[in-house]
Amino acid sequence: MPSNGKSIYLDHAATTPVLPEVVSAMSNVMCIDFGNPSSRHGAGLAAEEHLDRARGVIARHLDVSPDQIVFTSGGTEANALALLGTARLQRKGGHMLISAIEHPSVLRTARLLAGQGFSLEELPVTGGGVVDPSTVKDRLRRETFLVAVMHVNNETGIRQPVEEIGHLIKEHDPRCRFLVDAVQSLGVLPTRLDVLGADLLSVSGHKIHGPKGVGCLVLGREVRLAPLWGGGDQERGLRPGTENVPGIVGLAKALELCRPEVASVASYTTHLLTEIQRRAPHAYALGDPARRVPHILGLAVPGLPSEVLVHWLEERGVLVSSGAACHSRKSLRSHVLTAMGVPPDHGVVRLSFGHTTTEADVRRAATLIAQGLAALASVHPSLVSRR
Ligand SMILES: Cc1ncc(COP(=O)(O)O)c(C=O)c1O
Repeated sequence: MPSNGKSIYLDHAATTPVLPEVVSAMSNVMCIDFGNPSSRHGAGLAAEEHLDRARGVIARHLDVSPDQIVFTSGGTEANALALLGTARLQRKGGHMLISAIEHPSVLRTARLLAGQGFSLEELPVTGGGVVDPSTVKDRLRRETFLVAVMHVNNETGIRQPVEEIGHLIKEHDPRCRFLVDAVQSLGVLPTRLDVLGADLLSVSGHKIHGPKGVGCLVLGREVRLAPLWGGGDQERGLRPGTENVPGIVGLAKALELCRPEVASVASYTTHLLTEIQRRAPHAYALGDPARRVPHILGLAVPGLPSEVLVHWLEERGVLVSSGAACHSRKSLRSHVLTAMGVPPDHGVVRLSFGHTTTEADVRRAATLIAQGLAALASVHPSLVSRR
């Protein structure tokens, strides 16, 4: 731990601290205007007003109309609703193209559908971590009803050419749906449906300094879905269940507070890389540099197991991830790194920044990572041999 006892949190792609303004907006609808938005008395109407206002804020931000938003319990459920809700309106045998680097909430849901009679093809990526639009074009079939390519990969920070892919899908067949998981790009890159060429867009609150357990699926005007379960008429029957008003209000407030200060964050990544590579020239950033977003950096180190550096840094108060949060508890090799062909003995740590990251944090982390790589070289012979 640093002498001030505070750790430096560089794992915002896993989750972010909730901003105080968000907590205060949520607390109001939890304790004061706490009614059920379906109740017709004053308390219910007040809650309904908060819900409508929040939906309006999110709709304006994404440039859609409020009825194009379906609130969910987060990015995972938004992706599940997009895939399962679309597939349920299709005949068995229909074909899906899903990128091999999707979040498990997309990839594993698509694999479930493959076990139920749908046909699934996983789209490969280049060594730079990018889905090549020409691969999508070659694999689109008459029966293809759904394509999923995420906006920004959560492990590498590589932005995918979704605009181009969206365009060629529509040229191929306007009825084919395009799902873009925008969980890691919301608030940083433009995430408008029409700009991305998407029919379905999934977002999550806790990656943008909002609460956990809330997100939404944004639907194109023409998109029809089947609900995943029965219940009341909430969310136009597409997602029945009493609305998570505090979560939804928190999500809207967090979105209002997003300030995509990409320029300064870009200098964080540059500083980190320069400083680290000065002391450890064998370390490198994953993925195509022209497509790297500034707030997520996948740092690869040949010969060093990721966990060793992650623990070394944690002992010194710097919190980073050894990959996606959902992989890092199991020591499985990430499907993203495998798809990119990153050699198995290249350890990868992910550094990701948020609104609360300061330049001082980044400078300190850069120095410590560089020191760590130098120190660990003496105990990891495979690392020494590459220096
Ligand atoms: C790209 C991506 N999609 C979906 C999710 C799932 O979102 P949630 O945690 O809100 O379920 C995550 C979370 O890490 C993610 O990174």
